[in-house]
Amino acid sequence: MELSPIDKAKFVAAKRAAEFVESGMRVGLGTGSTAAWLVRCLGERVREDGLRFRGVPTSARTAALARDVGIEVVSLDEARWLDLTIDGADEFDSDLNLIKGGGGAHLQEKIVATASDQMVVIADAAKEVEHLGAFPLPLEILPFGWQTTQALVEETLISMDVMGRQASLRMNTDRPFVTDEGNYILDLHLGRIGHARQLAMVLNQIPGVVENGLFIDICDKVVIGFGDGRVELRDINAGTVSSDRIEFVEDVNLFKDI
Ligand code: 5RP
Repeated sequence: MELSPIDKAKFVAAKRAAEFVESGMRVGLGTGSTAAWLVRCLGERVREDGLRFRGVPTSARTAALARDVGIEVVSLDEARWLDLTIDGADEFDSDLNLIKGGGGAHLQEKIVATASDQMVVIADAAKEVEHLGAFPLPLEILPFGWQTTQALVEETLISMDVMGRQASLRMNTDRPFVTDEGNYILDLHLGRIGHARQLAMVLNQIPGVVENGLFIDICDKVVIGFGDGRVELRDINAGTVSSDRIEFVEDVNLFKDI
């Protein structure tokens, strides 16, 4: 099966980041299509290299996939603190601030990433932006009084440094999309976010809001994948950038069910 250039880019970023995991580690496992590649690559290392580590999934989807590929899955409360979390992102900027939650899992993802010594983001090059906000910002909210919460959010946005101010309830065909925590998601169509740190703090003050999808000062490294097998590794703390190339070998196990 031939993967699209974007899937190849996601795959090589995931494959490179899987090398960060060492035996004995406790590792947060992100959610989404790029994180799914990571989980498959880690499963391959478990089966073929004897890698032994405990994974803390950030969604029911990731938990099921991790178990399926042979990773030992534990809860965050069992692991308590993690060596590393590897996850995808919807957008990242030059400070490695992120928008996450396109897959509706940013609440668990933020808790897990924050409980980790290091967060590594894996992404295809199209996720890099100069200013966050073209991707609609996900906001997890309680179902109770959600329309009131939506109105309060839109009112709050009037005084914020953003271009657009419309919020829409995320749907799953004809019903509201429901997160693993039983909540709803509002997608905020902001266009461009001026002060992401301030916005993240203000949104979380609104009653009914559970968590926003802005990850500020949480991510330490990004592995950017390209469709031709190149990967670029940026470390925001060390201020370094390095490049690598991942051999793209179609593996029967890795690509099964895709
Ligand atoms: C899920 C997320 C994902 O990491 C984000 O949506 C990126 O997904 P993908 O790797 O499929 O592009 O935040 O809540």
